[in-house]
Amino acid sequence: MAKVKTIAVMTGGGDCPGLNAVIRAVTKTAIAQYGIKVWGIEDGFLGIIENRIRPLGYREVSNILETGGTILGSNNTTNPSKYPHTNKAGKVEFKDLTASCVRTLKQKKIDALVCIGGDGTMTSAEKLAERGMTIIGVPKTIDNDLWGTEVTFGFDTAVTTATEAIDKLRTTASAHHRIMVLEVMGRYAGWIALHAGVAGGADVILIPEIPYSLDKVCDFIKQRNSWGKTYTIICVAEGAKEIGGEMVVRRTVAYSPETIRLGGIANKLAGQIEMSLGLETRSVTLGYVQRGGRPTAHDRVLATSFGHAALELVVSGKKNRLVVWKNNQVSSVPLAQVAGKVRKVPVNSPLIAAARGVNTCFGD
Ligand code: F6P
Repeated sequence: MAKVKTIAVMTGGGDCPGLNAVIRAVTKTAIAQYGIKVWGIEDGFLGIIENRIRPLGYREVSNILETGGTILGSNNTTNPSKYPHTNKAGKVEFKDLTASCVRTLKQKKIDALVCIGGDGTMTSAEKLAERGMTIIGVPKTIDNDLWGTEVTFGFDTAVTTATEAIDKLRTTASAHHRIMVLEVMGRYAGWIALHAGVAGGADVILIPEIPYSLDKVCDFIKQRNSWGKTYTIICVAEGAKEIGGEMVVRRTVAYSPETIRLGGIANKLAGQIEMSLGLETRSVTLGYVQRGGRPTAHDRVLATSFGHAALELVVSGKKNRLVVWKNNQVSSVPLAQVAGKVRKVPVNSPLIAAARGVNTCFGD
């Protein structure tokens, strides 16, 4: 096995708290423990395509452990295998730039690429692996929906932020006897809504995995009122939908690996509830606040463990694997197993059972 001399690190997809902690752990372990040179790629795959790759030293990764965002920049719209360009006739065509990305990395003598990202990034990274680049993936996403790992860093911080939002909404809900609908992120999975909903004591939790009935939600609110509960808090995942209905799409991003952006369900639901019950209802969409800010201690620990494990995989000559958290420890799975898959909340999850136990309504 040839000794690894040079690696690169990149962050792809939506930003998430803990990215800098991984960059720091990868870079410090590489330099301090193995004398490996580290390159940082700017703005995800776009940085490879545009050859924006810069050296990362100890100084660059100092004092970043506790900061949100990513010092490298990120991008969730660039797909190297389907890269748009305008031809002479002014028409948009797509090019597969995978081979050229691998060439760029090899020209810099990069032996392995540490890709920190979610499922879109891993799917694209897997294509680079097929062309001969050694990839080690590190799972990030506030959505917690990456297949193969039981948890991703960033999730705990997002849940903490969403829980604080529920705590704060409770005061207005209670003072004004209103129904408050809080929309949280998560794409097609309800992890954030479920965990924040339970932690914040939401009365109704709506997640994509359990399509809801508007009538059941309204009946539950009426029942609460009959018990003297003068307000209700609903925590709804952006991907939640009515039985037989569709998810609410906020926008489509044509060339992105994932074209659909969800959003708007809280506003829609609040209108429907107010119309149906005649009770004052307000909606709040938490949005990017969930992706921002300092990572929690839990996420810093997980991110540092993941970054260190990624580097250990690189030096032990492992190829094309994703670092994961499984059975209470860090391990890894083949990257090819993960690409294109989404990990959803199991409907028989013990946490759903616990929530139902304390009389939380899931609208089913
Ligand atoms: O995957 C992270 C995430 O924040 C999702 O929860 C959300 O649906 C999506 O990204 C939003 O993407 P964008 O930043 O393109 O609006």
